[in-house]
Amino acid sequence: MNYGAGNSDSPTPVIDLRSDTVTHPTQAMLDAMAAAVVGDDVYGEDPTVNALELRASELTGKQSALFVASGTMGNLVSVMAHVPRGGEIIAPAQSHVLRDEAANYSVVASAGVRPVIENHHGELPLDVVLESINDPGDLHGAPTSLVVIENCHAHSMSRPITPAYMRALRMALPDELPIHVDGARIFNASIALDTPVRDLLADADSAMFCLSKGLSAPVGSMVVGSEQFIARARRARKLIGGGMRQAGVLAAAGLVALGDDECATINRLVEDHRCAQLLAEGLSLQAGIVSPGGCAQAEGSDLDPARVVTNFVLFKVEGGSARRAAYLQALARQGIALMAYDHGQIRAVTHRGIDEQQIRAVIDASAVALRATA
Ligand SMILES: Cc1ncc(COP(=O)(O)O)c(C=O)c1O
Repeated sequence: MNYGAGNSDSPTPVIDLRSDTVTHPTQAMLDAMAAAVVGDDVYGEDPTVNALELRASELTGKQSALFVASGTMGNLVSVMAHVPRGGEIIAPAQSHVLRDEAANYSVVASAGVRPVIENHHGELPLDVVLESINDPGDLHGAPTSLVVIENCHAHSMSRPITPAYMRALRMALPDELPIHVDGARIFNASIALDTPVRDLLADADSAMFCLSKGLSAPVGSMVVGSEQFIARARRARKLIGGGMRQAGVLAAAGLVALGDDECATINRLVEDHRCAQLLAEGLSLQAGIVSPGGCAQAEGSDLDPARVVTNFVLFKVEGGSARRAAYLQALARQGIALMAYDHGQIRAVTHRGIDEQQIRAVIDASAVALRATA
C-alpha cells in the first residue's frame, strides 16, 4: 500500500482521507484519560480496563473481553488462541489478516493459510469454504482450525456482512471449527445494517473490533469471546509483550467511545457514511473515474455509488498507473491525501475529521486533477 502523504513536494494534507485511523481523540476522551483511575492491568487490577472489557462484552453479547494495543494484535492473539501450531486458517484472499499483518499468523502463530476469493459482498462462497476444509484423516493437509470473516470487509468497499450470511456459514461448517470476525469496523456494519453488534456476532466464536478507527480513540482494540477463549488470548497477549500496566489511561478513551451518552462516538458513524455517499455520487459523475473492480465492484463499469454503504469509497482512474500517480499528486498539491492500493484502486475513507463541505472540496479538486492529467 502507498499511504500517499509525506511526499516532499506535497503540503501536509488538510483533508486526509487515507484512513479513519487518522482521527484524533475527542475532548471528552482527553478529559476521561486525564481523570482515569488506574491499576496494574497485568494483575487484572486496572478498574478502567476492567470496565471497558465489561462494556465490550455487553455490546457484543460475548462472555468475556480483552483490551489489546491494536487490531493487528487482537487478530494475532485470536489466531494464537484458536489455532494449534501447524493448523490452517481459511480467510478472505483480500483480508487484512492475510494481506496486511506481516504474515504474523505464520511468523508468530506457526499457522498456514488457505485464501478464499470473496464475492462482491465480502463474503466467502460457502461451497468453496467447505471444499477448503482439509480432511482430518488425510495426513497431507494441515488441520483446518479457523475461519476468518472481515466485517466490514474493506476491499469490497467496506461492505457489511449480514447476520443471515453468518448464520448460513455457521450452519454449513462443522461444529468444532470456530469463526473469528475481524470486526475492525463492526460498528460501521451495525449502523449500515441497522442491526446491533451482538446480532452481527451471534454466530461468531470470537471477534476483534477497533477503538482507534472511526470511533476516534487514540489507541486500542477489543477481543471478545468465551471465558476460556479470552483466557488463552490473554496468555497470548502476554507472550507477545502486549501486557500493559496502567492501561486505564488508554481504556478511558475507549469507554467514552462505547458509552451510552452524547459523547459516545459509536452513534456518529452515520455522518461518515453520509459523507462517503456524497463523495461517491460526486466522483461517479466525473469522466475518468471508473469502477474499482476486484471484489469491490465488477470491472469495466462506472463507479456505482449504491455500492457505498459505509465509510469507504474505492475507485480507479482511467489511464493506468502513471495517470493514477499523477492524479494523486495533483490532489496532494491541493492538500488532499487519498491512498493507493497495490492493485490499482484508490481509496477514500471518511471519518470524524471530515465534513460535507470538505467532501465538496474533494470532488472539485478531483475534477481539477482529472483535467490536469487527461
Ligand atoms: C479490517 C482491518 N483489520 C485490522 C486492522 C488492524 O488494525 P491496527 O491498525 O489497529 O493494527 C485494520 C487496520 O486498518 C483493518 O482495516
